[in-house]
Amino acid sequence: MITRAQFLSLLGTSISGLLLSPGKLFADRNAEALAAKLFGSNFIWGAATGAYQIEGAFNVDGKGLSIWDDFSHTKRKIKDRSDGDVSCDFYHKYREDLALLKSLNFGAFRFSIAWSRILPEGPGTINRKGIDFYNQIIDTCLELGIEPWICLYHWDLPQTLEEKGGWANREVVNWFSEYSRICTLHFGDRVKNWMVLNEPLSFTSLGYLAGIHAPGYKSINKFLASVHHAALCQSAGGRIIRENVKQANIGTTFSCSWIDVKKSKPKFHKASERLDALINRLFIEPVLGLGYPTDTLPFLKKMEKFIQPGDLEKLKFDFDFIGLQNYFRIIGKPSLIPFIRAKNDKPDYNDVQFTDMGWEVYPEGIFKILQRFAKYPVKEFMISENGAAFYDNVTGENVHDPMRVQYFQQYLSQILKAKQNGIPVNGYFAWTFIDNFEWAEGYKMRYGIVYNDIQNQKRIVKDSGLWFQSFLSQ
Ligand code: FCB
Repeated sequence: MITRAQFLSLLGTSISGLLLSPGKLFADRNAEALAAKLFGSNFIWGAATGAYQIEGAFNVDGKGLSIWDDFSHTKRKIKDRSDGDVSCDFYHKYREDLALLKSLNFGAFRFSIAWSRILPEGPGTINRKGIDFYNQIIDTCLELGIEPWICLYHWDLPQTLEEKGGWANREVVNWFSEYSRICTLHFGDRVKNWMVLNEPLSFTSLGYLAGIHAPGYKSINKFLASVHHAALCQSAGGRIIRENVKQANIGTTFSCSWIDVKKSKPKFHKASERLDALINRLFIEPVLGLGYPTDTLPFLKKMEKFIQPGDLEKLKFDFDFIGLQNYFRIIGKPSLIPFIRAKNDKPDYNDVQFTDMGWEVYPEGIFKILQRFAKYPVKEFMISENGAAFYDNVTGENVHDPMRVQYFQQYLSQILKAKQNGIPVNGYFAWTFIDNFEWAEGYKMRYGIVYNDIQNQKRIVKDSGLWFQSFLSQ
């Protein structure tokens, strides 16, 4: 089975014509001088989560099934044969968990709403208990002095909507608008910070083209349709939040990667440009009124049949911030892979570190990608996800995870450098608060700063969590 890590790296990452330079994992002197106060007193420090990955309670209190319930219950879709039925049981343990987050000195909690808890059948009757659950999350955050940050969609479409064509059906724009309206009207009195979509490229490409995430299709047509519909939802969601939430701070999130070229030859540069168009430009440019990057990626012309008169105007929205999520860089080279005709290559020097996902640790990438996105007319950036999966060893009541600590320090020092270079990056959400269901990888990939044993739901704050606790207290 191809994994997400392999697929994403097939697709590749950012471009500027720079040649590949070695990662300096153990040589970042800035990391030593790192202090939270250098980021400024208004900098947002948060931890991020996604509903399906932590909540469990998949069929409790009127929740409908989502595409991830269906997908994880299908044989051989998840590497370790697991599912999110119980996961971290955050649905029942949220009070203790949020208190734990507070004890680590984080000021913000990013979570997503499970659409199928609010509207179990897709459109139709609102499930009161679903609304109550998120009200409790929000109220608990506020009582604890944690700012709630809502993401409307982190990949768990109601299964009933998938049965009607899901993201490939243009009706999704109406379904999503109704769902967004309900969320904003119920939660907008207390929640001011909103993100519309989590990584639209990931859920459209992995779910409709590569077939390795829910709903598991391998279709270029469905992929292109879902891209356009997700882009329409991205701006429609923004408009609905603006309309219903007073003083809202509205953003959406993009997966992005710095893209180097393997060799300084025209063919390699062209290949890297194609990867850049797919990975970095596809969703931000229509928002800014630039349209889709069809010039660089001619296969996007096939999307025209899904585009209706007036759509290009509808794709625009004036976001208050853009959430960038960065995990790895890409080293582009030409290939025979259909449509994209490019792929990612491994760095060809020795001192490279990879996470358990097989993703290269390349801290400079986050600085370079911020610099690259800062060329767009964006008001403000948040790093809405960044983190690493490493194998964790439990020793008694401790989890020593020095590699993760170092990862955070090195990425943060690059973000600080970006800030000091005048790039308006105003917040950081660590991925992730607690070890959880890592999609098709199951529970083996641990990204948490808090360890969780899913057999007994015992939480242990890892050294990385303790590092944040001390870092954020100064
Ligand atoms: C991001 C996803 C998040 C998690 C991390 C590792 O792409 O948004 O849910 O899977 O990757």
